[in-house]
Amino acid sequence: MIEPILEVKDVVKFYEDKAVLNGVSFRVFKGATKIIIGASGSGKSTILKLIMGLDRPDEGTILVDGEDITKLDEQQLAHVRKKIGMVFQESALFDSLTVRENVGFRLYEEGVDEEEIDRKVREVLGFVGLEDAIDKWPSELSGGMKRRVALARALITEPQIMLYDEPTAGLDPITSRKINELIIALRDIKSVTGVFVTHRMRDAFTLATEYATNGDHEIKFRTEDNFLCIANTRFLLLRDGKIIFEGPDEVLRKSEDEYIKRFLA
Ligand SMILES: Nc1ncnc2c1ncn2[C@@H]1O[C@H](COP(=O)(O)OP(=O)(O)OP(=O)(O)O)[C@@H](O)[C@H]1O
Ligand SMILES: [Mg+2]
Repeated sequence: MIEPILEVKDVVKFYEDKAVLNGVSFRVFKGATKIIIGASGSGKSTILKLIMGLDRPDEGTILVDGEDITKLDEQQLAHVRKKIGMVFQESALFDSLTVRENVGFRLYEEGVDEEEIDRKVREVLGFVGLEDAIDKWPSELSGGMKRRVALARALITEPQIMLYDEPTAGLDPITSRKINELIIALRDIKSVTGVFVTHRMRDAFTLATEYATNGDHEIKFRTEDNFLCIANTRFLLLRDGKIIFEGPDEVLRKSEDEYIKRFLA
């Protein structure tokens, strides 16, 4: 039997006296992507924070690669976090560090030697198409470039799981498209498991209907046919801390639920 690489079980999270997450459960299998959609304040970023171990749930368990992270101390958590990369809602680069230092940050922390860091930094910057920006400062980059640097920084440890919190927020359609393609390529070419938070339905449906294949010289993107369900992606709709829909895009689009219809409109 295939085990999920990520499992969120009956999670409850209070902030002050409000249950921001109120019994949330879902599983993500290796190489699959879960798209979490929901209105502002519905608890999307909170779920990612709990998976990353940046905060703890009040109830429930979170299994990363079979290990319950809610019971771990900081040192053990640091070990689990190596399996996870996160692109935060704001790119959150360190302004006083160059692109090289930002992207290599986790490797510098681990004391990896300079040559190895340089090699890996160039490799991930190549993947996001920003090799030339290696010696620039964040203040010299556009919003879209910052987002790609943030993606490269998350990828430097070759994580099995990637968490994306609105990675295209505030970006123009062409730059958004580029980011989405990188995320699809990670899913389909490198089998990276993903949790993708957004309230932009266009991005969500792109991820849910397009897939990447290795061409001769470049990665090719195709849209799945009407009847095929190739893109390994499922939706999860949050409302007031509860999951009110879980399933593929075809089913989501056909839903007769009034709230879902309004949400997609
Ligand atoms: N550290 C915190 N302290 C207190 N309240 C918090 C904290 N983090 C989140 N909240 C509250 O929890 C609720 C859910 O927040 P969350 O950031 O998860 O929403 P979201 O779905 O990501 O929204 P958005 O689409 O606007 O990013 C909000 O009401 C927010 O005010
Ligand atoms: Mg959020």
